[in-house]
Formats: sequence, C-alpha cells, structure tokens
Amino acid sequence: MRRLFYLLPLLALFLISCDKQQSIVSPDGTILVQFRTDGAGCPQYSVLQDGKMVINWSSMGFLTDDPIQKLSSNFQLLDASTRSFSDSWETVWGEERTIVDNHNELEVQLQHASGLRMNILFRAFNDGFAFRYVFPDNQDLTIIDECTDYRFVADHEAWSIPWRTEYYEGLWTKAPLSAKTDTLSSPLTLELANGGFAFMHEAALTDFPAQNFYTSENGTIRTYLTPWLDSTAHPLPVKAYVSAPFATPWRFVILAHDLPQMTASRIMLNLNEPCAIEDTSWIKPMKFIGIWWGMHMKSMTWEQGPIHGATTANMERYLRFAHDHHIQAVLAEGWNKGWEDWQHFSFTEPYDDWDMDYLSTLADELDVQIIGHNETGGNAADYENQLMDAYEYHQAHGIHAIKTGYVSPIIRTVDGLQWNKGQSGVRHYRKIIETAARYHIAIDNHEPVMPTGLCRTWPNLLTQEGVRGQEWNAWSADGGNPCNHVTILPFTRVMAGSVDYTPGVFAFENPVMPQTRVHATLMNQLGLFVCIYSPLQMACDLPENYMNHPDAFRFIEDVPCDWERSLLVDGEIGEFCIFARQERGSDNWYIGGVNADEPRDVTIPLSMLSGNRSYGATIYRDGEDADWQMNPYEYEIEELTVTSKDVLHLRMASGGGLAVQLKPLDL
Ligand code: NOJ
Repeated sequence: MRRLFYLLPLLALFLISCDKQQSIVSPDGTILVQFRTDGAGCPQYSVLQDGKMVINWSSMGFLTDDPIQKLSSNFQLLDASTRSFSDSWETVWGEERTIVDNHNELEVQLQHASGLRMNILFRAFNDGFAFRYVFPDNQDLTIIDECTDYRFVADHEAWSIPWRTEYYEGLWTKAPLSAKTDTLSSPLTLELANGGFAFMHEAALTDFPAQNFYTSENGTIRTYLTPWLDSTAHPLPVKAYVSAPFATPWRFVILAHDLPQMTASRIMLNLNEPCAIEDTSWIKPMKFIGIWWGMHMKSMTWEQGPIHGATTANMERYLRFAHDHHIQAVLAEGWNKGWEDWQHFSFTEPYDDWDMDYLSTLADELDVQIIGHNETGGNAADYENQLMDAYEYHQAHGIHAIKTGYVSPIIRTVDGLQWNKGQSGVRHYRKIIETAARYHIAIDNHEPVMPTGLCRTWPNLLTQEGVRGQEWNAWSADGGNPCNHVTILPFTRVMAGSVDYTPGVFAFENPVMPQTRVHATLMNQLGLFVCIYSPLQMACDLPENYMNHPDAFRFIEDVPCDWERSLLVDGEIGEFCIFARQERGSDNWYIGGVNADEPRDVTIPLSMLSGNRSYGATIYRDGEDADWQMNPYEYEIEELTVTSKDVLHLRMASGGGLAVQLKPLDL
C-alpha cells in the first residue's frame, strides 16, 4: 500500500528561515540538517543529531570548466521549500519484504552570479541524511571537481579501502580519519567518538563518476570524483560531462546509535527510483553451484584442454547434483571461445566439448537454471557490440542469469580506456543492466562499480562482486583472507549492496599454494550464507567435497537467499557478527555467525521468533577443539525444541562460526 502525504501546512515546522539559513528535521526530530549561504555566497550545510553537532558547516558545490567557474561561491538563495514524505514499498527480493521510506525534504533554489541555477535537495531520515545537486536549466557542464565536504566534529576512526584498490578487492583497515593519507573508495564506515556509527556512500549512480574521498586537516572528508582518462581533450582532468537538466547521485550518511540500527538502514534503497521493470516474475533469487572453484584451485582450466572444466559431461554432473540437492542453478565458466588469449571472447560460440542445446534441454528437464558467464577481459566496448546477439543466444537457451566479468580496473569502453568506476564505466554497467532486463536476464556483475542501490530500479541486478572474495583464498600470495575480513564486510561493503562472496568451502587443503588457504572452520563457511547477503548465493566448492560432509551440507541445501526480515543480533566490526533472517513467505528463521581470531562465547536471544509457537532448532556449531588452523573440520549438529523465550549460548572457535535453522513445529 502506498501512502504519500504532502504536509505543506506543516512547512513552518521544518523550514526555519532566519535570513539565509534553512533547516529540516527528521520525522522523529533527532536529526537536523541546516543549510546556509555564507557572506561569499558559498552554499554550506551542517548536521546535528540529538541536539549535538555531528558535521560542522561544510562546503558544497562544484568547479566547472569552460569557462572555469567556482560553483561553490557567489550563489544567491532564490527560494526554499519543504515537504514531508511517508511511504512503504515492497522489494522484489531483498533482506526485507517491506521497506518504509519516511523523510522530510528541503529544496533550496540557488542562482550563481553567472546566471546558472543550481538546486540542492536535502532529505532527513530518522537514521541519517542525504542530498543531491540538481541543475534545472538546459546547459552542458564540464565538471572538474566536486566541492562537497564533510567536516565531522571529531577525528573518528574510519574503515576503508584505498580508491585505487583494483575493483575494490582490498582488505579494509581502520585508522583515525587524519591518519588516512590515501584517497579512499566510497563507502566509508566511521566509528564515532560518541560510540555511534556513520556510513557514507552514494545512491542512484547512473551517469556520473563514482565518488571517492580524501581527508584533509582535522579529518575533514572531501570528495574526489573518479576522473576521465582522456587528459588530452581538456587541459584539466575532467570528472564528469553533464547535460542539464541533470541531477547528481545522492550523497548520504547513515547516522546510527549502534550497529543493529546501521545495518537495518534502508536509506540507500529509498534514494533510488522505484522499479522500472513491469513484470518481475522472471527474476528469481537462487542458490547456485558452479564449474568455478576447480579453475581457481587449478584442477580445471577455463580454456579447452585435457582438464577443461566446462565440458558437457562435467556440466551434466553438476546439473544432476544441483537437482538432487535442491540447488536452483549451476554456473559454468569457460564454456565459450576466447579464453586462450583473453582478447576476443565470443558470447555465442561454445567450445567443441560444450553442447549447449543438450545441456539447456537437460537443465529444463531437471528444473535447474544454467547461469551463463560473459567474461569480457575488460573489453566493455566489444561486449556492447555483441550484446544483442549474446542475450538472444542466452535467452534462446533458457538462460535467465549471467555473471559478467571485466578483470581490469581500467576497461575499454566506447570512450577508450577508462576507469571502470569513471562516468563512462558507470554508463556501460547501466547499459548492461537495462539491456539485460529487456531479455529477461539477471546480472551478477564481477569487477563492478561499487553498487549504489540501483537494484531497486533494476531488480535484475541481483548481485555483484566489488569485494576481496573467497577466490583470494585459492591463490592470493599473502596467504588468503584473514579471519577478521568476513567480520568487517557486513558493516562496510555489504552495506552498499549484495555481494557475490561465494561462501561454502568444505575442503581447506590447497595443493597448489599450500601457504594459502581459507582462514575458517567449516561452521564459519555455513555462517557466511546468512552473514553476507546475496540473492544469488553461490555454494562454491566441488560437489565431491560437499559429499564428504553431507550432514553439514544440509544447511546449505536448506538456507534460502530471499528474506522477509533481517536483523543483526550482535557484532563488533572486525571481531564477529551474528545475523538472524526470516525466510521470505514463511516463519522459518536462519541465524548465521562468523568470528575473527579470538574464540568467543555468544548469547543469542530467540525473541525474534513468533511468541506462540515452538520451533525445531537445528544448531550447527564449532566442535570444542575446533580452530581454523589446527582443526577446521570439527563440528557438532544438535536438535532442540525452542520458543521465543529461549536464549542460545554458543561458542565460536578462532576463525569459527555458527548456523541455526529454526522451523515451526506446528506446521
Ligand atoms: C574474476 C572473477 O571474480 C572470478 O569469479 C572469475 O572466475 C574470473 N574472473 C574469471 O572470469
């Protein structure tokens, strides 16, 4: 049900017009966003939470070229207006079925001394705020810099990865803002000095470069837009070409008192446009296995040869395994020509040992989906040239999901070599999503631009990488992802959108790189299915490894990847996290936990369960002597009857985890 109230009579409540200062409060009155133009006509904003300044007066605007103009001073306020918005909407898939959007909005209309008009829209939510710039006149602008600052009142601790981290595949580190000397990728997570948390990112990035940050004096955070790489065309490095009327992506900051509130925030999705796809019935959240881990562990190859992975025989085996174990889909990488030199991938020509007609008929008979794979090797322009043919080919073979890949932070777009997260790259990724939707194809985008909630508008964008994923545990020279990595991601990268992390390794020996391994116990690998959200969730290990632990594999068979409700039970960034999620359309609950290096006792109140029911609980937990290095396979599975009044007391080993399935007994 949509409810939309325009409460213009309440305008006076929100709009406090003292000379050139305007302000807006969140619906619950806790967050106050103020706007002013100073003596030099510089647009500035500040933010208070619970009456205390969080962000001091900070500058806004742009530097443009042709002619060089500072769109950050010499503005005059023409008008200001407010409105209030209260709505709820249903997700096609997600961590929650129903999302509430409750905010107040302030629009300030500004005119620059040059005559150019620029409006700024501010929104105050109960858990944060957002703003975007709007250029309402017909005019072309060449943006050299964005001048948006965030003058936090203290030098908070920040979790970040550097902006040059190739396709965002880095280890997140924590340090005071003032000590972060690199330019940083968006998003950022801040541990505030008062015990609260802030999460900073952008929303609705469709035709603009991805934002990054750098810090200056006292930890002030400044914006750095990803540049175009065609410096010959302009004397200054251009960040964006804008054809107004135009609205920039939203810049938003979640301000949360604690981590449960931060992880429950839906500001980013609310700032994106509603669903643009009329019939979404073909978009299906799915668990999948794949011809994949074998290539990363070097027991198979992508290219054709004696140990080629994507053969008809192998795929048949995987499809039958998926069918027998309630896994909805199978990915196959290396089915198509081009892997020998990575120069010219074909997206319609299979290798000789891959019988697409036979396999698509078999998949259909078994009621298992095939997930296609389109590795571009970074040649986005070539992919665009083949796009229609590729999607027609996949559609004709009943394929409704494709994993795309770029494997290069600088990709060849229609504009030449460009940062994948520059404006041209952003345009390419959006073209892929929109074109795929026309062919009823969902996308799992590897080496993407950081997600910004576009999946609300285009729910066929099911998931993406943009993370140092499980594959690093196969071949990373530094030994693999440290234990704390997966306890940081839910509070950093996952906050920006679903992640194809590929959980579920069940065999930890690495014959290729003995020093590299998964820093986890088997229970940790189960916990990831709940902790790292993805509606396209891969169980990445080989079927034969799953069959060595069929009782633990049972959890992977059962756990869904589409949720009615999700909540953080407990957690500390870099130490541990425990999520509980209710299966969509049922009263079944799933709890997952992952732990860093220190063994840990945790208590999990089951108060999320329906009060009047008894549940059968299947508890998957680390064995008493489990330890990721010495004893990763020791686990126990226990059956209990519980109610909402019970509290589970469990222990997670070093690099350990837990998983719980709760099903009502009265069904
Ligand atoms: C990198 C991707 O992240 C990985 O999943 C894929 O297997 C390889 N590229 C090959 O496309």
